[in-house]
Amino acid sequence: MDGVFASAPPSAHVNQRGRTLSAAAQTPKAPTGRTFRIVKKTTLAPKVTRYVVAAPEIARARRAGQFVIVRVDEQGERIPLTIADADAAAGTITLVVQEVGKTTAVMALQPEGGTFLDVVGPLGLATHIERLGTVVCIGGGIGIAPMHPIAQALKAAGNQVISILGARTKDLLIMEEEMRRASSEVLVCTDDGSYGKKALVTDVLNDLIARQGKPDQVLAIGPPIMMKFVAKATLPHKIPTLVSLNAIMVDGTGMCGGCRVTVGGKTKFVCVDGPEFDGHLVDFDEMMRRQRFYGEQEKAALARHATHECRLLGGAA
Ligand code: FAD
Ligand code: FES
Ligand code: MG
Repeated sequence: MDGVFASAPPSAHVNQRGRTLSAAAQTPKAPTGRTFRIVKKTTLAPKVTRYVVAAPEIARARRAGQFVIVRVDEQGERIPLTIADADAAAGTITLVVQEVGKTTAVMALQPEGGTFLDVVGPLGLATHIERLGTVVCIGGGIGIAPMHPIAQALKAAGNQVISILGARTKDLLIMEEEMRRASSEVLVCTDDGSYGKKALVTDVLNDLIARQGKPDQVLAIGPPIMMKFVAKATLPHKIPTLVSLNAIMVDGTGMCGGCRVTVGGKTKFVCVDGPEFDGHLVDFDEMMRRQRFYGEQEKAALARHATHECRLLGGAA
């Protein structure tokens, strides 16, 4: 991997699933005492926050499609987050995070000017960018954030980029302006019709294909069920379709096996073989089963966190 690892010094770490990380899975060595300052923090939508984080080496080295693994504090687990944008001159990367459980809730408590303990990356294979012609970029929900750098890079390479952005409702649609700048055309849909067309991204894609013919490539990032149905929609047309998988990760370096998926009948590790794969070959049902694997522990961790916060705020114990 041609990336740079930037992180605080590793310490023995038991994640919230009670798993002790092996020495190999510990964060690679890096400058002592280093933490990652949150330069700017903005709320984009209910429970969706944008963090601009000082991480100069990562900002210089990252390419579209890559991600980092973040640990908020000493007690925290590691979670993967896509580099949604970067400014090499300012030495910052942008993360857009949806609060879905304990770690993302702890992240949301960090103030602007605060820090994250570890930010490791850039990780994963970068998106293959070339001039293909017309490319459709589909972002669903928080998936719009990871799609942003890919659309930017595809447009910069001379493609006509048609972006389809989907959200449950208007308030949850993020980064529309950024995606308009990164695209030649943007089509918006919401489940409830509160903004754009009342439709699913697959309906908008089908209409587009009926109207304009086959694009040269489709990329989709969003909930696995959305990616599964995008891949189903493009298969009969034989449109090359890439999906970016959000499997559960621990170390992000191919050591733990947590992010195992099956693609074309073969075992792949999302962190080192992906995160992008041929959507027509991914076993989405298996991936969705594995994503739910730690559901009970995740619920318990969030409940413990909520109780702790409540005590700190002087509420009922
Ligand atoms: P939990 O309650 O622990 O988990 C909620 C759900 O999140 C789980 O059921 C599971 O499906 C998923 N999840 C939990 N732990 C992990 C883990 N260690 N790795 C992956 N998924 C997990 N989210 C964003 O908001 N923005 C992003 O840019 C983004 N990029 C990602 C890029 C990649 C390559 C991957 C694999 C995931 C990405 N995610 C992103 C998902 C994000 O990592 C999870 O939402 C986060 O780890 C949830 O942690 P939690 O403790 O708050 O929630
Ligand atoms: Fe451990 Fe991919 S996260 S092998
Ligand atoms: Mg968690």
